[in-house]
Amino acid sequence: MTSDDLLAALRDHLPARDILTAADDMQPFLKDWRHMFHGAALCVALPRSTADVQQIVRLCAQAGVAIVPQGGNTGLAGGATPDASGRSVVLSLSRMNRIVAIDRTGLTVTAEAGVILDTLRAALAEMQRDLPISFGASGSATLGGILATNAGGANVLRSGMAGRMVLGLEVVLADGSVVSELSGLHKDNSGLNWMQLFVGSEGSLGIITQAVMRIETLRPYSATALLALPSAGAALGLYTRAVDGIGDRLAAFEIMSRDAIERVEKAFDLKCPVEKDAWLVLMEASSTSVHLEDDFNAFMEGAFESGLLADGAIAANQSQRQAFWRLRESLTEAEALSGRSVKHDISVPVSRMADFLARGDAVLADVARQTGAVLNPHVFGHIGDGNLHYNILCDRHEAAGAINRAVHDLVIACGGSITAEHGVGQYRLSEVYRLAPPARLALQERIKAALDPDTILNPGKLIRGARP
Ligand code: FAD
Ligand code: MLT
Ligand code: ZN
Repeated sequence: MTSDDLLAALRDHLPARDILTAADDMQPFLKDWRHMFHGAALCVALPRSTADVQQIVRLCAQAGVAIVPQGGNTGLAGGATPDASGRSVVLSLSRMNRIVAIDRTGLTVTAEAGVILDTLRAALAEMQRDLPISFGASGSATLGGILATNAGGANVLRSGMAGRMVLGLEVVLADGSVVSELSGLHKDNSGLNWMQLFVGSEGSLGIITQAVMRIETLRPYSATALLALPSAGAALGLYTRAVDGIGDRLAAFEIMSRDAIERVEKAFDLKCPVEKDAWLVLMEASSTSVHLEDDFNAFMEGAFESGLLADGAIAANQSQRQAFWRLRESLTEAEALSGRSVKHDISVPVSRMADFLARGDAVLADVARQTGAVLNPHVFGHIGDGNLHYNILCDRHEAAGAINRAVHDLVIACGGSITAEHGVGQYRLSEVYRLAPPARLALQERIKAALDPDTILNPGKLIRGARP
């Protein structure tokens, strides 16, 4: 089947408005959020149902044309951007965005893959329920993309990664068949836990069309503090106290370097309300109990007395709370506006974070010496998960590879992972193949070969596979 035959067949099955071929219409789907990756495509297909997705997949498989699944296109690893060949079909799930059912008693929500996280959480909040996933791109990221990347964010220390909340999944496989288990059982050991195979699979094993997620009772009370600390060690000390003192009410514990916050202040004309020190921590607790505020204030009093804090402020109301979070959630955009940056999404055991940061300074000084590049760290992250965005602003594009390799080597030496939450996509593929255990890579290749023998689904991302 030629490309023209495929387009004609797609147009036979879907209305013309659901198949985009004009350059201007396709353009937003062909580059990633950071504008780091640019691709081309035969068309962008916008299915409205699982049956549409099956039809598109069958036709592409017949034509031997690759499919690049896409949700909100906010991923940070280039996973949703097609290659430059112009032979792929981008399959956007954005029109499959229905919330199918909310079960307040069974604590589940069933939704199509294209539903946007903020929309889903707002619908749940109206019923005093919540899906505790929170990060800066929540106004665009979709449920399918979140599961396909196994997204993390600020609430992981309490609720785990997105994949931990999956109770049901519907997936279209590379041959167009569908596996659909959407009853949302909390307990089901009648077979392999196959759904987890698709969590974090970045569109390379199947296309997620619907999911059932475990939800929880909305926690209407929250308490939030923005704190300045002189060292990463002090921040870890405070985190230990918070785990003991706040327990499972601790919802977020985010760390931000002074330099990074100063870039946010400059880029968005914002003012950090505390006297800054080397690090800032944004700490939040949430609860269904009205007593949270008293307990949180008592905890903060003890923290100030401990001498760990240089300065701090507790949000007095929702608008102050939002202002604290605005500083945190503007870090990625401020970084993008500050010039070229080399991104890292690393994790190390929490106990080794201060060690990693100290050794990181020496590693960066070495790379700067060897490459002649000027390096300015823009570091922040989710300290409770050992996950740092150890991002480096760099004036020389050619130094990026050396920076990546040096940082990743240190991560491995510290017993860590080179991608904690953003995934591999195309951005980290070569580094993963350089550093991951060979047995894991071989297993992944075997799974890919079994599920997608013709490498139709998202080639060149996550798993190399073989393109026949
Ligand atoms: P896309 O970007 O469209 O796709 C991501 C990957 O999933 C691609 O490989 C794509 O092929 C695949 N995919 C998408 N939909 C499907 C589907 N239905 N079936 C199969 N495969 C699919 N991530 C975090 O983990 N934590 C953070 O704190 C965080 N903060 C962020 C802040 C900002 C400002 C931005 C821009 C991004 C952030 N991210 C964060 C990145 C995050 O991974 C994505 O935002 C989100 O998980 C991806 O959802 P999406 O719908 O945009 O997916
Ligand atoms: C975050 O924690 O804000 C993100 O994962 C985004 C980033 O790394 O820039
Ligand atoms: Zn993050």
